[in-house]
Amino acid sequence: MHELTVQLGGRSYQILIGSGLIRYAEPIVNCLVTPRAVVVTNNTVAPLYLDALTSSLRLAGVRLDEITLSDGEAHKNTGTLSLIYEALLRQRCDRSTTIIALGGGVIGDLAGFAAATYQRGVPFIQVPTTLLSQVDSSVGGKTGINHPLGKNMIGAFWQPKLVLTDTDTLKTLPVRELSAGLAEVIKYGLIRDLSFFEWLETNIDQLLSREPNALAYAIERSCANKAEVVAGDERETAKEGGRALLNLGHTFAHAIETGLGYGEWLHGEAVGAGMVMAGELSRRLGWLKESDMTRIRTLISRAGLPTTGPKLGAAQYLDLMGHDKKVIAGRLRLVLLKNVGEAVTWADASQSDITATIEACCND
Ligand code: NAD
Ligand code: GLY
Repeated sequence: MHELTVQLGGRSYQILIGSGLIRYAEPIVNCLVTPRAVVVTNNTVAPLYLDALTSSLRLAGVRLDEITLSDGEAHKNTGTLSLIYEALLRQRCDRSTTIIALGGGVIGDLAGFAAATYQRGVPFIQVPTTLLSQVDSSVGGKTGINHPLGKNMIGAFWQPKLVLTDTDTLKTLPVRELSAGLAEVIKYGLIRDLSFFEWLETNIDQLLSREPNALAYAIERSCANKAEVVAGDERETAKEGGRALLNLGHTFAHAIETGLGYGEWLHGEAVGAGMVMAGELSRRLGWLKESDMTRIRTLISRAGLPTTGPKLGAAQYLDLMGHDKKVIAGRLRLVLLKNVGEAVTWADASQSDITATIEACCND
């Protein structure tokens, strides 16, 4: 088992990564305020892993309820959130009840936001089961839901008490979802970890064939990168750089996801194309070389991800990007690349360069 800590003073917590951890109740039990918890999951993950998690917790004496939601990004909304609140109220959950998210990023974001807001905040634990959630969304405390006008627009920072990652769950993950997770893994290499990017260039096929040691290493290194960034800028308030760098490609990606309708492209797929767009804009600014772009496109494509965006039209992209949370005082603050392995936040990209980038990169 690998163990990391997200250093946030009194709100610090552990990330435990290993094979078979879902059947291991002790770390969860140690985090509970009272032996009472509610597991939030969905109708795809429940038949696979709910029993393994709940039986070990029940054996350890935890009183448990379960909330099983419909699967999909299209359900990450106020309607589903209301279902969670209603179930928590009907089950008479109180402020000491811990909410446990069992599933991918959609479940983690929804259950986390419910935990942040139910009775003004209850304890929360993440048990992520997709690669994307194991390397990114379960760590760092961003929770929330989508709005028809913008992705992740309603939410809260609410740190979990524990992240318990069972790498065995990746065995059942559909291949398209595995690739989507690799987008966020590649992101860490691109923004701050050149040697990890190089390791990925060598080992991407092992990751795609789910070689356990390669997967465990990629998860641990991704989480170590994320934990360091979050510890330095928990609420993304740094004027330059900081946590915002984790959003490489995401402003373009959120425009793709909102523009096509939630769930059409997977989040990680949109991030794959979005990172190419951020790279292309960086090349236009004279920072990246054509050879860097070839490396970036090649790795993203080998990971099974799109390297071009859908043809929504530059005007729609710009409109949707203007709704992004990265807009500050009307200026779009993008994450761009000075080099492979070195990202910056940049509010000075011209509209004409952004438009040219969209036109060059969005032809699907
Ligand atoms: P997801 O939660 O929709 O999961 C993908 C699919 O895999 C779903 O159908 C799910 O039911 C299924 N699944 C989950 N685990 C499985 C398993 N072990 N075996 C088989 N099927 C399994 O998608 P995701 O990629 O995990 O997360 C995407 C979401 O995460 C987006 O909403 C995105 O905005 C959010 N996100 C949040 C953060 C954050 O910091 N909070 C960061 C990145 C992404
Ligand atoms: N996924 C971006 C963040 O956690 O800040």
